[in-house]
Amino acid sequence: MNKMYALSMRSWLSYLSILAFTALSQSCMPGKDKPGYEYMPDMAHSIAYEANYATYYSFNQFVDEATYYEMAQPRTPVKGAVSRNSEYYPYPNTEEGRQKAIDEIVMAPTPITQEALENGKKLYNIYCAICHGEKGNGEGYLVREDGGKYPAQPADFTLDKFVNSTNGLYYHAIKYGRNLMGSYADKLTVDERWDVIHYIRSLQAKAKGLEYSEKANTLNDWAIPLAEWKDNEKVQQ
Ligand code: HEC
Repeated sequence: MNKMYALSMRSWLSYLSILAFTALSQSCMPGKDKPGYEYMPDMAHSIAYEANYATYYSFNQFVDEATYYEMAQPRTPVKGAVSRNSEYYPYPNTEEGRQKAIDEIVMAPTPITQEALENGKKLYNIYCAICHGEKGNGEGYLVREDGGKYPAQPADFTLDKFVNSTNGLYYHAIKYGRNLMGSYADKLTVDERWDVIHYIRSLQAKAKGLEYSEKANTLNDWAIPLAEWKDNEKVQQ
């Protein structure tokens, strides 16, 4: 009697476990047409509004899809908001605009500092040196290798016409590009553009045996070394 009971108990258990396994594999496991069940799905699928993102989760219990996308849309900034690093640049991308920028953007608005030159060097070597060359002489890798993969001659910044041009020429070229050269406005913030310009000036100074550093500027009168920069100085453009 005892033995029989034990036997049936064992088979009862194995029967149960087979049942449980079948139930499990049938209901929880994801299949071709079934997403399956997730333990705490909210942890994997955010139901928060993600700005500018298509992240609607179909099991979102709070709002329907249309409302979700309405809420996730970009909003208009409050009146008077000024974006970080916004720039006022009244010179259009035309030959006259370029000339006006050359005539009017004379002084660099930031002093020559060691950090500016270091940062400018880093950015210049990433974005400009491939064409303009690490020394700024227009002999970048793209122009040099295999008889010229790049069809146009990049500006040689060590030529007098570039050394003697005001900062506006550089700023305008970074902002809009020039002929075959593209714009770098989406790659460099306003401050970064001035760092790059400072660095190009330091390359020109090197080529001419002059100094352009945080201590002194013997290259031109258009940028103030940190040593001569007074705290309350505002450079008028
Ligand atoms: C893909 C190659 C290429 C890259 C990268 C490039 N340039 Fe140029 N750049 C040129 C070419 C080509 C010209 C000559 C355009 C012309 O005069 O037709 C030029 C011209 C210029 C000029 C002279 C503009 C003028 O008004 O005469 C400046 C200044 C300049 N580039 C700055 C930069 C700076 C700063 C960077 C990096 C942020 C840069 N360039 C990156 C190809 C490049």
